[in-house]
Amino acid sequence: MAKPRYLVTGGAGFIGSNIVSALVYAGEHVRVLDDLSTGSWENLAALEHSSVERIQGDIRDADTVARACEGIEVVLHQAALGSVPRSVDDPITSNAVNVGGTVTVLDVARRMGVRRVVFAASSAAYGDTEVLPKHEDMAPRPLSPYAVTKRSCEHYCEVFARLYGIETISLRYFNVFGPHQTPEGVYAAAIPRFVDAALARKPIRIFGDGEQTRDFCYVDNAVAANLLAASTPRKLTGEIVNIAGGRRVGLNDLCAEIGRHLGRHLVVEHAPARAGDVRHSLADVSRAKQLIGYEPKVRWEEGIEPTIRFVDALRSSGLAAAARLVAAFRARRSLVSARDTQGGVNDVAARPEAT
Ligand SMILES: NC(=O)c1ccc[n+]([C@@H]2O[C@H](COP(=O)([O-])OP(=O)(O)OC[C@H]3O[C@@H](n4cnc5c(N)ncnc54)[C@H](O)[C@@H]3O)[C@@H](O)[C@H]2O)c1
Repeated sequence: MAKPRYLVTGGAGFIGSNIVSALVYAGEHVRVLDDLSTGSWENLAALEHSSVERIQGDIRDADTVARACEGIEVVLHQAALGSVPRSVDDPITSNAVNVGGTVTVLDVARRMGVRRVVFAASSAAYGDTEVLPKHEDMAPRPLSPYAVTKRSCEHYCEVFARLYGIETISLRYFNVFGPHQTPEGVYAAAIPRFVDAALARKPIRIFGDGEQTRDFCYVDNAVAANLLAASTPRKLTGEIVNIAGGRRVGLNDLCAEIGRHLGRHLVVEHAPARAGDVRHSLADVSRAKQLIGYEPKVRWEEGIEPTIRFVDALRSSGLAAAARLVAAFRARRSLVSARDTQGGVNDVAARPEAT
């Protein structure tokens, strides 16, 4: 196998596996470190086995991270325990994995001579600030242990850049969704959960009145942001940038759009709002554009169909088959083809739909 230049931590998870796919389609060999706590190797089932080096292990274990960082130029650090409610239930584990794991990744990376770490931060750091759109100069007001962990890691990224000279950047994702996001479990995110219920012809459960808004970001945009951050020639020194779709969507409107794709009206039931959830969210993405050239090229509405296809295939045929089916679907729509993505990472980043 050719020597990988990129390490994707959490590469067996939702966003990570989409990043790995984009890198492989760009002709890269990629190393993945994942403990499979929420991810699965089956997310990578559509990729040539020889293109992806898999290490099963924990980001908190320095020896494992050192093995994973061997010869690596850029770490795309996605591994974490996601979900606000999970962190409310168990703040100690969320902190240990997200903060402890990230400090371990940063420390091992700088000792091993890794040039750059791209960190998966979160819009949760903003909390319930009234001002919209949210921009990076606003004072963060985390509302949950998860948000605190993500904000702390941003600080660590800044401090490691200043103290040790390793290049870092934090990408504050806003509600990423798309194929490979699991609808399963109590901590599932809204869109796959809604799609799953709709496909099963069950009522869609919304926490709160459904008038809350989110800036939903189709995963191809988040992938493009990672590739741009990985490849920008500019020196990165711990900057924080919003990565989002740049538009605000109400949950009731989202359900109506899913129903439109399925050709029927969906039944919605409302449950009490959850602790730690924010009311409204919308990103100003101008800093990401200025710093790394990021623009949300795929609208959230365009991401609903591949998401439905993925969840549908997952339900009927299992994860590996769903991964293959969605890869073929994307290729058929000529969004991506292994044949026409022979360029470097920059070429893929310029075409975020290529995942
Ligand atoms: N999905 C979103 O909307 C969103 C929003 C903001 C930030 N993020 C961040 O993006 C990153 C990826 O999120 P995702 O939605 O793909 O979640 P995910 O759960 O699908 O992926 C996380 C991956 O990390 C792995 N992992 C967890 N703990 C680990 C550990 N100790 N060692 C090694 N691997 C470990 C999991 O097995 C999984 O494969 C996370 O850091 C998350 O906090 C996601």
